[in-house]
Amino acid sequence: MNYQVIVLAAGQGKRMKAGKNKQFIELEGKPVIIHTLSVFEADPWCMEIKLVINEKEKDIFKELQHQYPVQKIKEMVIGGEERQDSVYNGLTSLQSAEIVLVHDGARPFISQEVIHHLVKKAAKEGAAIVGVPVKDTIKRVSKAGVVEQTVERSSLWSIQTPQAFRYAILKEAHDKAKAENYLGTDEASLVERIHVPVHIVEGEYENFKLTTPEDIILAKAFLQK
Ligand code: CTP
Ligand code: MG
Repeated sequence: MNYQVIVLAAGQGKRMKAGKNKQFIELEGKPVIIHTLSVFEADPWCMEIKLVINEKEKDIFKELQHQYPVQKIKEMVIGGEERQDSVYNGLTSLQSAEIVLVHDGARPFISQEVIHHLVKKAAKEGAAIVGVPVKDTIKRVSKAGVVEQTVERSSLWSIQTPQAFRYAILKEAHDKAKAENYLGTDEASLVERIHVPVHIVEGEYENFKLTTPEDIILAKAFLQK
């Protein structure tokens, strides 16, 4: 089974406060983005990687590509202001595609096993995303800081990437969002708006997103395990 993946690395990593794009933070001597790309480079099902980058960081990424060659990157794509714009640019750069995955460059611990479950599900159903059951108790809280409701947890999932779709579904969802100026936080939220059922594939808690500084401590501990 084959797929193409859009890997997003065009953010600024503001919440990480590293003074640079968090993709360049080194874990065990290698930048985060190289860890992430290596998973797809090694996956025989992955046909092509579209790496989406910030125009201003083109030279840094070119240098990285020189130092750690990733054969499946045929070209780098320039991202946009919002994550959704970056995905759109990745999507429109694909020549032809069947199953498309969208993955955050800041999630280096995705496993090939989960990717394969996801791709099979998307091929069968059209749209599938990776998630894990929520572990904490979740409450709805008013603006004044008072609990309004404890939300029933068994139906709550934390959603990660990759998210996988048949190309035509994802393209239609993005085109509609663009036309209506809708900005979502993930691809699935756009696909939900065109009423295509989005299926969940249970993933792993290890596939967390490197977002704030303590995530780096966690990532290092995880790699040493
Ligand atoms: N991303 C992107 N283009 C954007 C914004 C984000 O390609 N305009 C990418 C990031 O590089 C990251 C992924 O989307 O791999 C998930 O976004 P997030 O964790 O929010 O990363 P950043 O936007 O870089 O971080 P922050 O929001 O803290 O600035
Ligand atoms: Mg962001």
